[in-house]
Amino acid sequence: MSLPQARPLRSAATGALSGTLRVPGDKSISHRSLMFGAVAVGETVIHGLLEGEDVLNTAAAMRALGAQAERGADGVWRVRGAGLGGLAEPAGVLDMGNSGTAARLLIGLVASHPITTFFTGDASLVKRPMMRVITPLERMGASFVSRAGGRLPLAVVGTDQTVPFTYRLPVASAQVKSAVLLCGLNTAGVTTVIESEPTRDHTELMLRHFGATVTTERLEDGALAVSVTGQPELTGREIFVPADPSSAAFPLVAALLRPGSEVLLRDVGMNPRRTGLYDTLLEMGADIGFENRRNLAGEPVADLRVRGGELKGVVVPPDRAPSMIDEYPILAVAASFAQGTTVMLGLKELRVKESDRLAMVAEGLTRCGVRVEVGADDSLTVYGTGRPPQGGATVATAMDHRIAMSFLVMGMGTAEPVQVDDGAFIDTSFPGFTTVMNGLGARIGAA
Ligand code: S3P
Repeated sequence: MSLPQARPLRSAATGALSGTLRVPGDKSISHRSLMFGAVAVGETVIHGLLEGEDVLNTAAAMRALGAQAERGADGVWRVRGAGLGGLAEPAGVLDMGNSGTAARLLIGLVASHPITTFFTGDASLVKRPMMRVITPLERMGASFVSRAGGRLPLAVVGTDQTVPFTYRLPVASAQVKSAVLLCGLNTAGVTTVIESEPTRDHTELMLRHFGATVTTERLEDGALAVSVTGQPELTGREIFVPADPSSAAFPLVAALLRPGSEVLLRDVGMNPRRTGLYDTLLEMGADIGFENRRNLAGEPVADLRVRGGELKGVVVPPDRAPSMIDEYPILAVAASFAQGTTVMLGLKELRVKESDRLAMVAEGLTRCGVRVEVGADDSLTVYGTGRPPQGGATVATAMDHRIAMSFLVMGMGTAEPVQVDDGAFIDTSFPGFTTVMNGLGARIGAA
């Protein structure tokens, strides 16, 4: 496992931004389309797959598990599935790189196959907690050997004798929900996950698209029970991957921060479980128009027209966190340009992302001259003055693509340029980020 060479980047203040673009495909949907295609019968055709490093690792993993997954000269990916129950034991270790989603979902999928699979990841991923998937999957019958605290590298000793299970999520995590549902996929009977807070439902939507029976039921306490009926016939499908709202967030906020900007972002995913950032920015006074709303193979999308303008501070309630969990770093940057105080509540899960995002955001903003507070309750308060922050600092990114992109956007409006110590990980989710941003008018380059 070798680390990519560090790529320091620098971002300097820009004028108004303008342009039309489609950011790369949704990462969550891209991972799932390869995985589900690999356990379906027949061919799955994927348009607009994100070709970031995380997803390419998933494609390699699915090949190692016996499926075919190739990119055509036309940019369309075709997956020929091994069939549910048909995954083969990989000869080597599956390296999931930087991606918690790929690791946790695949661990769930192989757990109900009678094979042993070894997983590892990069220096960020091997620090992230896996007990949250190991605990329910052990209850279903799989066995695990892992490093202390349930860290990667780990081995999953799967079985085709798993038993169905009803699991109430202890954390609001779509990854944990998906891992249990995917183990349930090759388990006879009905497996149920109960979530008190709604998390992204791409697994449920796409499993239905492939022919599985997935039902939801509202419980008396308001929680949602999601059930999958095991051992369905999954059939290869055509998939159109929307542009990733978590990637669109960067040009979107950049345009908001630069007066006079107008940017059109095409085909952006509008799944209601992902739109917390838009709700928050609209409350802050942002000018965002949602045009041409439509459906792209089961997922709602729209074109977003964004115009620069003034923002004001708001309180972001904790129950909004699952619908914008990946967007807090860029929201905190937006808040640092706003007039007034923004309080973001309920951010505990940010501590176990690609980095401890709560700490990294607070540290980076402080270095750039912004007053912030991290509360003992895992809240983040950003004191905006209505004037551009100072900038003029180098920000540590801790192998985290979203920290890097957030601070490069910040540098587009600060008094002095902002540098990030390493932009190499941006390729995990947003290949071409620098070129795309510079095409709108940004001035991002090697530091
Ligand atoms: C994802 C779920 C979220 C998110 C991640 C992608 C998914 O993680 O942060 O980037 O595709 O299911 P958690 O489910 O752990 O919150």
